[in-house]
Amino acid sequence: MKSQVSEIARGVHRISTFHPDFGIQFNQFLVADDEPFLMHTGMRRMFEHTLAGVRQVIDPARLRWIGFSHFESDECGALNEWLALAPAAQAACSFVGATVAVNDFAERPARALADGEVLAIGGHRLRFLATPHVPHGWDAGLFFEETDRTLFCSDLFFQPGDPVALTESDVTGAAAEAIRVGATGPLANDMPFTPYTDATLRRLAALEPRTLAAMHGSSYRGDGGRAMLALARVIGEELGGVRRP
Ligand SMILES: [Fe+2]
Ligand SMILES: [Fe+2]
Repeated sequence: MKSQVSEIARGVHRISTFHPDFGIQFNQFLVADDEPFLMHTGMRRMFEHTLAGVRQVIDPARLRWIGFSHFESDECGALNEWLALAPAAQAACSFVGATVAVNDFAERPARALADGEVLAIGGHRLRFLATPHVPHGWDAGLFFEETDRTLFCSDLFFQPGDPVALTESDVTGAAAEAIRVGATGPLANDMPFTPYTDATLRRLAALEPRTLAAMHGSSYRGDGGRAMLALARVIGEELGGVRRP
């Protein structure tokens, strides 16, 4: 395995590692700024590959923030490895995540973020959005880089395989197909459809992202609000049984 590094938005570096056993990419995003921010740590057993990617952009010991959406191995499995390597690094996650998982798991306490709280890291501003159960997990949240309108959308827009780093073509079709295929596989029911799923996705669409930074699959540049509404429709139909005219 080898990590591929591509700048997908100003100062936002996508570190992508395709794992042949899973048949998917694991993408981390490094926002290189005064206080470097890494979105997802990658799995613990993939640490050396992610580290090699980060090293192509900054001195990894400078890392200040480690953000992630929810408590799973690909999102934060290598958190302690990063904390050991970077003395000023701190996890940044939801209040729920910090309270129920991270502050016991991690070697140092996390910065527990409230919904809407902003991390100003230099020329980028990362707004935290609490999104419980979207894509999954009570603790789930997402980060939105407000200056250039990049949404780090975790497992939303999941696309399998090893596609290009960044595309301006439709990604919702591939994401919709993955939802349909996933519903019949051993990892089915990954995303619960709750009374607030649709409102959460519409809130994300209203941010009008210019770039959707997907954890698995290509990042998308274009009308991210429209893409998110299209995804919300698919999720409503496939997972929520919602039929719209
Ligand atoms: Fe996940
Ligand atoms: Fe993931």
